[in-house]
Amino acid sequence: MLKTTLSGDGSRTLYCASVGEHYHSTKDGALTEALYKHVLPAWQYRIRGRKQIVVLDICFGLGYNTLCLIWYLRRQGYRGCLQIFSPEHNRPLLAGLGEFPYPEEFSELKPLIKRLAKNLTFSEPDLTIEIIPVDARIWLKELTLSVDIVFHDPFSPAHNHQLWTREYFAELSRIGAADLLVTTYSTATAVRMGLFESGFHIYENRPAALVRSSTLASLVSLPLAEIDMQLKQQRNPAAASLRDN
Ligand SMILES: C[S@@+](CC[C@H](N)C(=O)[O-])C[C@H]1O[C@@H](n2cnc3c(N)ncnc32)[C@H](O)[C@@H]1O
Repeated sequence: MLKTTLSGDGSRTLYCASVGEHYHSTKDGALTEALYKHVLPAWQYRIRGRKQIVVLDICFGLGYNTLCLIWYLRRQGYRGCLQIFSPEHNRPLLAGLGEFPYPEEFSELKPLIKRLAKNLTFSEPDLTIEIIPVDARIWLKELTLSVDIVFHDPFSPAHNHQLWTREYFAELSRIGAADLLVTTYSTATAVRMGLFESGFHIYENRPAALVRSSTLASLVSLPLAEIDMQLKQQRNPAAASLRDN
């Protein structure tokens, strides 16, 4: 049985001892983080009013972002077609998800979670989920889909360096639709710089429900105050993106 951590909003998360990080912000809470940092901006700026959406959930982990998205879209009565692809290289973690103590909000998703844990895929009319049990960076190279939204949620740059570099973000913009939206918990200047240098407009996401703000990056302008990354770089020439090598 996995030892879980109670997070700020009462939902449970995990601590990864080998990395020394929790899967979620224990202050904001796992469910609150998924909803406010990823799902609500995706709904507001991309999904509402569209009939077809392709989401990359990087990385699946406990699956809060995917599950919260499905839960929220059902509550909104969304009738479009949703495809979710999610790399996650920890197979034992995935195999145990059927027993994880998810919040009450996900109780209607229990059969879906059990099927995902067993088969790594779930499909019903207008909803497809595919978990890909390999290294995200390697898998992305092969991808030819047009992606609308990326929930970017690996461990921090200190432990998942390859998923925060300028080259990685350039790869996202290659597979993204012309108006790709990336949501991430990181507000680090180096991360924002990598996104900016890969063609993204950068925004602060600061809903009152969150203890910590997060970042929205979009290939087209959003109706929000854009962060002037050029000015940031002029003021601090040492501000640099992370690089592969
Ligand atoms: C912060 S947790 C993800 C949290 C997740 N979104 C959730 O809601 O539970 C980071 C996850 O990234 C996975 N991971 C780290 N590096 C990876 C890689 N290169 N490819 C695929 N998965 C990776 C870890 O196994 C871990 O489950």
